[in-house]
Amino acid sequence: MATLRLNKVNKRFGGTHVIHDVDLEVVDGEFVVFVGPSGCGKSTLLRMVAGLEKVTSGTVEIDGAVVNDVSAAERGLAMVFQSYALYPHMSVYQNMAFGLENTRVPRPEIDQRVREAARLLRIEEYLNRKPRALSGGQRQRVAIGRAIVRKPRIFLLDEPLSNLDAELRVLMRAELASLHNRLAATMIYVTHDQVEAMTLADKIVVLRDGRVEQVGRPLDLYNHPANRFVAGFIGSPKMNFLPARFLKAAPGNVMVEVAGIAEIELPFDGGRLSPGEEMTLGIRPEHIRHDTAGAAPFQAAVTVSEQLGGESYLYCMLQGDHKIVIHASGQTEARRGDEIAMTFPPHQTYLFDADGTALQRTGAKPAAVSR
Ligand SMILES: Nc1ncnc2c1ncn2[C@@H]1O[C@H](COP(=O)(O)OP(=O)(O)OP(=O)(O)O)[C@@H](O)[C@H]1O
Ligand SMILES: [Mg+2]
Repeated sequence: MATLRLNKVNKRFGGTHVIHDVDLEVVDGEFVVFVGPSGCGKSTLLRMVAGLEKVTSGTVEIDGAVVNDVSAAERGLAMVFQSYALYPHMSVYQNMAFGLENTRVPRPEIDQRVREAARLLRIEEYLNRKPRALSGGQRQRVAIGRAIVRKPRIFLLDEPLSNLDAELRVLMRAELASLHNRLAATMIYVTHDQVEAMTLADKIVVLRDGRVEQVGRPLDLYNHPANRFVAGFIGSPKMNFLPARFLKAAPGNVMVEVAGIAEIELPFDGGRLSPGEEMTLGIRPEHIRHDTAGAAPFQAAVTVSEQLGGESYLYCMLQGDHKIVIHASGQTEARRGDEIAMTFPPHQTYLFDADGTALQRTGAKPAAVSR
């Protein structure tokens, strides 16, 4: 298995600059997930690692050696795509063995590798079938099996589960996680599925417009997003944002006016802010407390109440037409049309300055909310 390092990698397609100065380190055995909105450059970055796309500037290093001029075939990596085109006229066995047949791997070893991969992926009983006689999830496993038999130094997977239905995705996600454990392989995985990123990754790389916004362990990104973009991208349903205005700083706290509704004190370091500065308050749906009878300053009308039994989602409208989503565990009494009172626990709020950069939280204990 292998390590990967990207140094100041850039990519231009003609005049379009799509990847900007990307630095990244992937250690041996790590499961790294690239996430970001459509068109942000995830596939392009992966294809540059694979050698399917040339790097405009910067270097790609595998196991300490620069591979910019090494062909895709010689990099020893395996890529699994979203559209995992299997050869329709070949059996599952032949599909998996095909990539090895023009190499120096001896036939008995090819046979052994195919059977071993089939066993790992639980597709042994389908080895003689044609792909059309398989379910989507089984086909996907064949595509992954094709990568496994090559014993790649790094697995590169570009949205491999996006063609599967929701139930299969969940199953395959768990299988990928256990496969990663069993193979102890280095894997780079592209997805825009939030849950896949959170559950599979040792490390998430959040990309936006060809730039790395933040790199970190899933819960570190969830708990400490560097900026508003990452805060809104990691977590589902996404973080609620409300306009806010900085009023003044107190030791360990800042006083902000939120959505023109209330002035609240929050435990952030406001050293670099100036009075009147526009800010954004962030609060995750799962952190809002609500009460159908309370008198908190934030009063909202419930527009949709989704009761799933084990959890509930309330879609609300705050004074001033601000949409707020609340996620509660268990069942709530709030129904469409109800007025509810919301509180934002200060230590679970986020504040972003006008540029979207997250303010540093302090350990201070804020004073009570005032109107
Ligand atoms: N061959 C190409 N020529 C010109 N522009 C390209 C080429 N390939 C990709 N791009 C552009 O580069 C940007 C990044 O594309 P890329 O496919 O890497 O995005 P992505 O993050 O994988 O998106 P998605 O989530 O939709 O798959 C896009 O704006 C795309 O239009
Ligand atoms: Mg893509």
